[in-house]
Amino acid sequence: MSTAAEPLIQYLRQLESQGQTHVSIDDESRKILRAFYIRARAGTPAKQARAPKGSKPAVARPTDEPTSTRAQVPALVVTGNTPAEKIDSLKRQVTRWAPVLAQKDLRKTMVFSVGNPSADVMLVGEAPGYDEERLGEPFVGKAGQKLDGILKAMGIDRRSVYISNIVKFRPAMPNQTTNNRKPTKEEMDACLPFIHEEVKVVAPKVIIALGGTAAQALLNCDQPVGSMRGCFHDYAGIPLRVTYHPSYILHNEATSEKRKLWEDMLAVMDLLRMPISEKQRGYFLTN
Ligand code: URA
Repeated sequence: MSTAAEPLIQYLRQLESQGQTHVSIDDESRKILRAFYIRARAGTPAKQARAPKGSKPAVARPTDEPTSTRAQVPALVVTGNTPAEKIDSLKRQVTRWAPVLAQKDLRKTMVFSVGNPSADVMLVGEAPGYDEERLGEPFVGKAGQKLDGILKAMGIDRRSVYISNIVKFRPAMPNQTTNNRKPTKEEMDACLPFIHEEVKVVAPKVIIALGGTAAQALLNCDQPVGSMRGCFHDYAGIPLRVTYHPSYILHNEATSEKRKLWEDMLAVMDLLRMPISEKQRGYFLTN
């Protein structure tokens, strides 16, 4: 394999052996790899397009690596010993992550995550809004206050869980003031490697996907939230519960909807073997 693909493939194998599951490559590298595999599949010898002697792989080095040999495209690499250090290493990379930089309609202030990076419970929303951007923390606006109320009703302190979003920047809108919008599929795809790595670092006992957008992104599907809630899904061996986004409950005061969300939370409490009082079991039951 003494072609232009060789240093690339070696470098990708090296990243893979370090446990890396995602890498972003530039168009030139993609072309080289595609040509290599098409020829390999067809059984034809690779064109003798040798890489120039001493040339660097076209894939960039990890962005955390302080090296002058860094190429154009970042690779997502988790460094550090403790979960907090590992989350910090991800945080440092998201502002330089090429797929994110390519999203012209994401604002610039990063809002990554909050809470305990070794938590049993990980909650995932869609993207920060006005309040989250202002305070640099997920779920601190009205939906966040609703979430705090839900956690309190479960007997869980907000600081003991890990709270994150699929998208780490507030989606922009023309003439934007306090209004927020849902992230696009491209914006979510650009950020998705981060939440996948966060789950690996936190290794929670349960994940709660808050709303359809987060659930669809995590489970790679397009079902509506109503058809996904009510049971546990499997996310890489971790039980994942889909429930309504707290803002849905803010805008839909119907007791029946609150009860559905609460039943999802009771199921999570059961899974975690948390004590559940009769009072808690009865919240939002109408008769
Ligand atoms: N909604 C979300 O999905 N995430 C936040 O952080 C705030 C509101």
